[in-house]
Amino acid sequence: MSDPKPKPNPKEYTSGGSGTMTHEFWETQPVVQFEDMGDTTLPEGPIEPPTLVSEVKQEPYNFHEDYEWIACDMKSDDMCSEVYNFFKVHYADKPNLKVHPSKEWLMWALCPPGYYQNWHVGVRAKATKKLVAFISGVPARIRVRDEVVRMANINFLCIDKSLRSRRLAPILIMEVTRRVRLKNIWQAAYPSRDVVSRPVTTCQYWGRMLNPKKLIDVGYAALGERMTMSRTVKLYKVPDAPSTPGFREMELSDCFGVTELLRNYLRQFGVAACFDSEDVMRWFLPRKDVIHTYLVVSPETYDVTDFCSFYTVPFTISNSASRNPENTTVQCAYSYYNVVTQTSLPKLMNDVLTVSKQKGVDIFYALDVMQNASFFTELKFCRSEGALLHYHLYNYRLGSSLTPSEVGLVLW
Ligand SMILES: CC(C)(COP(=O)(O)OP(=O)(O)OC[C@H]1O[C@@H](n2cnc3c(N)ncnc32)[C@H](O)[C@@H]1OP(=O)(O)O)[C@@H](O)C(=O)NCCC(=O)NCCS
Repeated sequence: MSDPKPKPNPKEYTSGGSGTMTHEFWETQPVVQFEDMGDTTLPEGPIEPPTLVSEVKQEPYNFHEDYEWIACDMKSDDMCSEVYNFFKVHYADKPNLKVHPSKEWLMWALCPPGYYQNWHVGVRAKATKKLVAFISGVPARIRVRDEVVRMANINFLCIDKSLRSRRLAPILIMEVTRRVRLKNIWQAAYPSRDVVSRPVTTCQYWGRMLNPKKLIDVGYAALGERMTMSRTVKLYKVPDAPSTPGFREMELSDCFGVTELLRNYLRQFGVAACFDSEDVMRWFLPRKDVIHTYLVVSPETYDVTDFCSFYTVPFTISNSASRNPENTTVQCAYSYYNVVTQTSLPKLMNDVLTVSKQKGVDIFYALDVMQNASFFTELKFCRSEGALLHYHLYNYRLGSSLTPSEVGLVLW
């Protein structure tokens, strides 16, 4: 895993969004800079040493006099609804396509054990009290090589469409960083669609259609060349029921077995999530329409031998783009962590596709992290054009970038 890699070419990383290699903000931050790429003399580990917490800036950064910072209480239904509605309007991928995480999903993603409410950073307009920006952090333990590092997973950066391109994102990033530092945490992991500094890795999303007719009818997918609808439907048909003996939904009593499997499995990766049984209980126990975990139990020993998990997030396609206005919500599932010791991964994932289809999932996505690439071809996953996710570490240098298969971490 630590084989030397060819020196990366910074031009490969020309940002999809800005189309430029100049990053006025990121060039001032403790992240691996493009000019440091391939410089093996730089040490691995924290880029800047921690300071005393008392030396961290105690007051929030200035945003704008018309706006105020808030800490969003995601466990309050009103606040959660506000964030949900804000994302519904402003977290759009494309004009006609909106990602739509449910309130239950947001609570799952944002309130894990030991979370800090004031890392759920909102910005309100003072006059209207309208939410206009959001960024979040949740605490995580991430192992980098041999060291387990306390980090913040930073995510859900979103700014009201009318306030874009005003350099407000850096203020949000600095403010959440300040709040993280106040908890004596000095590193962070975050994903981005554009390359803002040298990423730890760049992952590709792959998608497997489960309901091709609907996806094509609503304009989410196109019929392949020389394909008819009936041939496409046949091609993507999945079995009616899972076929692995002992395959069932995870229960509370399985937490210990799942934790053991997961911890052993994740040891092989250069950068990986660290889960204890409390985390497993929180992140993996099934929650309707949020997180789905299945496992295989040995009929002889009753041990958990394999497990698989995915989370579900709906997308909405606006009617103008849809040939069938009744079908506007596309149910997407995303592979989370999968571990096999007795079953082949493609076989287990075929069962995952089967239960996903039974739950009404229209398309199943997976990043090419861990061993996921080993089942893409056999299970008819297709590369999602342009759907890249760059993983970054804040204030931590890795000597060389990793391939996605060297990474045991799922970010979204
Ligand atoms: C992402 C979003 C907040 C960016 O807002 P913006 O108004 O275009 O950006 P600003 O002008 O305020 O700030 C630009 C700076 O912030 C950085 N930035 C913006 N989005 C970023 C992100 N997701 N991760 C890291 N840095 C980011 C830019 O790289 C740039 O800094 P640079 O000059 O050093 O490169 C906005 O497009 C948005 O709300 N999109 C919808 C939600 C979304 O896609 N979120 C990101 C998911 S990965």
